[in-house]
Amino acid sequence: MGWKIEAQIALGFGILVGSMNGVGGATNRMNETLVPLTFQPLPLGSITPLGWLKDQLTLEASGLAGHEHDFYNYVVHSTWLGGTQEYSALREGFPYWFNGLVPLAYSLSDSRLLDQVHSAADYVLDNQQEDGWLGPEQGTERNFWGRMPFCLGLMQLAQADKEYEGKVVSALWRFSGLMNSMLRDNFTGYHYHEGDQVGQGDEQWGRVRVQDMLITLQWLYETHPTGNMTQLMENMDLLIQGSLNWAEWYNTATYITKDLNTVPVSVTEPHFAYEHGVNIGQGLKALAVFRRVTHNDSLVQTSKNAVDWTFQYHGAASGAILADERLAGLSPYYGSETCTLVETMYSLSYLYQALGDSSYADRCEKTAFNAFPVQLTPDWWARQYVSQPNQPYSENLTETPFWNVNDWGQTYGLETDYPCCTVNHPQGYPKFLSNSYVKVNETGLAHALLSPGVAAIGDTIVKCETAYPFGNTLIYTITSRESFDFYVRVPSWAEASSTSISLNSSTSTVKPDSHTGLHKIAIPSGSTIVTYAISNLAIVQEKRANDTVAIHHGALIYALNIPSTNTSLAPKSYSNNSPLPSGYAPPESRDWIITPTSTWAYAIDPSTLTFHSVNGTDTSLANPIFAPGAAPMYITAKACEIEWGMYKGVPDAPPTGGNRKCKGNKTTEIRLEPLGGAKLHLVDLPVLDLGGIA
Ligand SMILES: *[C@@H]1O[C@H](CO)[C@@H](O)[C@H](O)[C@H]1NC(C)=O
Ligand SMILES: *[C@@H]1O[C@H](CO)[C@@H](O)[C@H](O)[C@H]1NC(C)=O
Ligand SMILES: *[C@@H]1O[C@H](CO)[C@@H](O)[C@H](O)[C@H]1NC(C)=O
Ligand SMILES: *[C@@H]1O[C@H](CO)[C@@H](O)[C@H](O)[C@H]1NC(C)=O
Ligand SMILES: *[C@@H]1O[C@H](CO)[C@@H](O)[C@H](O)[C@H]1NC(C)=O
Ligand SMILES: *[C@@H]1O[C@H](CO)[C@@H](O)[C@H](O)[C@H]1NC(C)=O
Ligand SMILES: *[C@@H]1O[C@H](CO)[C@@H](O)[C@H](O)[C@H]1NC(C)=O
Ligand SMILES: *[C@@H]1O[C@H](CO)[C@@H](O)[C@H](O)[C@H]1NC(C)=O
Ligand SMILES: *[C@@H]1O[C@H](CO)[C@@H](O)[C@H](O)[C@H]1NC(C)=O
Repeated sequence: MGWKIEAQIALGFGILVGSMNGVGGATNRMNETLVPLTFQPLPLGSITPLGWLKDQLTLEASGLAGHEHDFYNYVVHSTWLGGTQEYSALREGFPYWFNGLVPLAYSLSDSRLLDQVHSAADYVLDNQQEDGWLGPEQGTERNFWGRMPFCLGLMQLAQADKEYEGKVVSALWRFSGLMNSMLRDNFTGYHYHEGDQVGQGDEQWGRVRVQDMLITLQWLYETHPTGNMTQLMENMDLLIQGSLNWAEWYNTATYITKDLNTVPVSVTEPHFAYEHGVNIGQGLKALAVFRRVTHNDSLVQTSKNAVDWTFQYHGAASGAILADERLAGLSPYYGSETCTLVETMYSLSYLYQALGDSSYADRCEKTAFNAFPVQLTPDWWARQYVSQPNQPYSENLTETPFWNVNDWGQTYGLETDYPCCTVNHPQGYPKFLSNSYVKVNETGLAHALLSPGVAAIGDTIVKCETAYPFGNTLIYTITSRESFDFYVRVPSWAEASSTSISLNSSTSTVKPDSHTGLHKIAIPSGSTIVTYAISNLAIVQEKRANDTVAIHHGALIYALNIPSTNTSLAPKSYSNNSPLPSGYAPPESRDWIITPTSTWAYAIDPSTLTFHSVNGTDTSLANPIFAPGAAPMYITAKACEIEWGMYKGVPDAPPTGGNRKCKGNKTTEIRLEPLGGAKLHLVDLPVLDLGGIA
């Protein structure tokens, strides 16, 4: 996701690079505080998974993510670990992996993965350069970007493990000193200078993703104020001053609400970095991160616009941003990149913590329970590069509707299209888990992202057992030496008037705060059982383009699950699609072609949608849960087959008006399933009134 962009676009970034000679303005910012987060994250390791989430993390650990350190060139033979293998001059493969494996290893206390992250951290920290640089680069090779995910990994490691805390903190302070001299030296390593090995296009990546550096610096500033604090604050100021600032883009005068495929790239070129899918996923949190430093409260609304506009104009119903490298529109054939999804989830969980607005948590759950899991095979050994809302097959296409994703891009594989999603997908669920509970002020605790898991802080232990989102009852077993306030988030789709909390034997309905969505429960000292029953009986139809609907029930999206058959091939090299040397990857790593075994071109009659629950029980779920037919509920609808044209090798937007009609005079019943398991699917379903047809 770096060089391929550079190769595609003429380098016309002169106006952005500009001249920034008067760097600095070292105003005295000693003793300045950062704008506090509304909710504080718990240190990594405080939350352990249960239920389906533990199953998913365990599959992740025993799948591709947990084996990359055994064989994957861009991890184990990365230049960061003394090797020679990088997929781009940005050298981001190892940092992405580290950022995801640290929380995976600690969430599961998996000793094999802990050994991997410890040996990797030891190597990089022991090889920190004399001048403080973290990583292998010298001179003109140096660019801050690769440090950003690596430092996020270090921050998590220091939180989770006292043995690493001192070592990490001192390494970060040394790095901060070097960063200051580089930034003061005309933004070296940040802005492009003639002769830099990271080219003029890729150089923008560090500037548009800099919030990911600031998060670590802010953590250091607030929790380990043992170095030159003025200098650290100056670094934060300079990084923001030299950034590509998302406030320029999320502005009514600039923002493009149209399908970007109808707007020539040359017209949008000065804004290209803001149109790149992964940048957007990462950048949704940028202005909330900047605000902590600048104290500019207008950024609260700009952050809201950023998220709302992105999904309104360029989002799928599943919580995916549609950007097959470049931001697209609402058509159901565009792709969403796996990397973009994990970054979106992390940004949304951060935004909820920073700003307290419950819409971010609702959206985070939507992406985490729907868009993300469908892009992985049930066993977590292969990932897609992009997925499409309407995707009735997953194969090498003859032609693609994508801006810059190749004809293998919507297949599941080891590194189809590009390696970034191989190394970056691991962070998705581990970070969802580690952000699922948050601190509220000094002594409160909130369940922010609903899912099964245990939070332990001090003497307080909150254990949540639930099938949510596959069930709507959450049972908390709480033990605490002191009384404290516990909060549960009430999702926006819940019917609050019939959603209840039972504390031992007394039951009441919830009264969520209108901004945070939190309902407060006073927990006495000792042991308490809280039962949180979310009421939601409704099937919700979300109107999508061209007389289509996406079907929601609770936190899940239901899609037509298209029966399929599959074949697999040895994993291919992303660069030329020829097979990688045999023995390179473990035998479980395969590239897949999945083909439908039935027709998929259906229109549904939404008045016939009916919800079915296979099991009354709420807690026992299949493992893997994100596989065809695995979820204990489904929705049926009356449907008929329609003529449906093609566009660039994939189903077009469906026909509308009089062109939408049943083939023959017959209907059938179709089955919609939670999207995460429905690898071949239609999410945006054409509607038809089938009242007159049997
Ligand atoms: C600073 O860097 C810019 C490019 O970012 C360059 O145009 C300018 O000449 C440099 N200034 C100095 C004093 O080196
Ligand atoms: C701390 O950093 C500031 C700003 O870079 C610098 O002026 C000052 O000399 C530094 N203080 C120490 C004790 O190094
Ligand atoms: C605050 O940020 C906005 C961008 O959202 C900018 O237009 C405004 O000038 C900033 N205000 C200050 C005081 O810096
Ligand atoms: C709706 O259909 C029209 C006509 O086929 C097509 O041009 C347009 O792109 C479709 N809109 C979306 C968002 O798919
Ligand atoms: C897709 O890949 C398979 C296996 O390599 C090959 O047999 C087939 O011809 C390819 N199809 C297209 C359309 O390229
Ligand atoms: C946290 O404390 C602040 C300041 O005292 C207060 O305004 C806020 O309402 C508290 N938050 C909650 C959720 O109680
Ligand atoms: C609630 O139930 C638990 C477990 O049965 C019991 O230990 C505890 O004393 C009860 N708490 C209150 C406040 O009734
Ligand atoms: C391929 O099909 C088998 C048998 O149905 C199934 O177990 C497996 O999960 C499928 N693989 C993928 C990648 O969907
Ligand atoms: C239904 O519940 C039973 C136990 O009551 C369990 O064994 C089974 O796996 C459940 N089925 C599904 C599809 O969840």
